[in-house]
Amino acid sequence: MKNILVIYYSQSGQLTEIVNNIVDHLDQDQVHIDYHEIKMEKPFPFPWTKTSFFGVFPETYMQIPEKVNAVSEDILNTNYDLVILGYQIWYLTPSLPINSFLNTPDAAKLLSDTSVITVIGCRNMWIMAHEKMKKKLKGLHANLVGNIVLADRHLNHISVITISKWMFSGKKERYLGIFPKPGVSQKDIDESIKFGPIIASHLKANSLNQLQDALLKEGAVYIKPFLITTDKRANIIFSKWAKLIQSKGEKNSSNRVFWLKLFNYYLLFAIWVIAPIVFILFLCTYIFSIAKIKKDKLYYSSVKLRE
Ligand SMILES: Cc1cc2nc3c(=O)[nH]c(=O)nc-3n(C[C@H](O)[C@H](O)[C@H](O)COP(=O)(O)O)c2cc1C
Repeated sequence: MKNILVIYYSQSGQLTEIVNNIVDHLDQDQVHIDYHEIKMEKPFPFPWTKTSFFGVFPETYMQIPEKVNAVSEDILNTNYDLVILGYQIWYLTPSLPINSFLNTPDAAKLLSDTSVITVIGCRNMWIMAHEKMKKKLKGLHANLVGNIVLADRHLNHISVITISKWMFSGKKERYLGIFPKPGVSQKDIDESIKFGPIIASHLKANSLNQLQDALLKEGAVYIKPFLITTDKRANIIFSKWAKLIQSKGEKNSSNRVFWLKLFNYYLLFAIWVIAPIVFILFLCTYIFSIAKIKKDKLYYSSVKLRE
């Protein structure tokens, strides 16, 4: 019998559904599964207001933790063969609740010397966030053996429109009856059951170090090359904005709220004006970047961390 711990956080339930689909199709007779749901001491609203949505940007991006619920003594005193960590991306970074959990002594105890599979449910910008996750897990002496990413496959700009409507209304439905449903498609969520048996067989055969290759064969990770470029550039700019806004005073101070509004306008400008220009430049230079893109795709699909 192998012991598995599932750690997750989800506002809308999307990530919970994905993680459950995977876990429900592990070989249930061969495994014992415990669950830990991360909860914030001060929960974030869902649906979001504009103020709260942009308000979490600096602390999320700068990976400043807040208080989360403790893990039960029973879980803390169990030795796990595998941890499945379900996380979402906020502002190109592991979400603030996930990052807060990873900063606790509980996480250090549970993850140290333990195999970890990450399951991401996001819009589509996860690559650099996952690099941050890889570093964090390395710091905790965890052994990352697998990564499954479920993202919105629609065009970047379509997904920006639909996810905003979803986040500010709380309803995962088709905007105006014209746009596609926001977030990860129900088809991809339903089909995520296919990863369960692959994980179960590698766990049973003690071959978790070969797991990611097997997951990749089943389409566990899909990379759009243009989004690697966008993600990297946006991280450079976000780091400047985050530091600037943080220096503008207390969380609810009018000065900080003013700067967050400017950031909101900047984000709209970046998405609707800068990104299309960068996309055209990307297309123009595509032919010269094919080798680099191939190398990047290989690396970002893997569980390796560049030194
Ligand atoms: C504040 C905030 C920022 C987000 N930023 C990103 C992002 O940078 N990249 C991305 O792919 N998705 C982003 N998302 C979408 C989330 O990753 C996730 O898909 C969505 O919040 C649903 O997750 P849930 O299971 O917690 O409901 C963001 C969501 C929120 C609330």
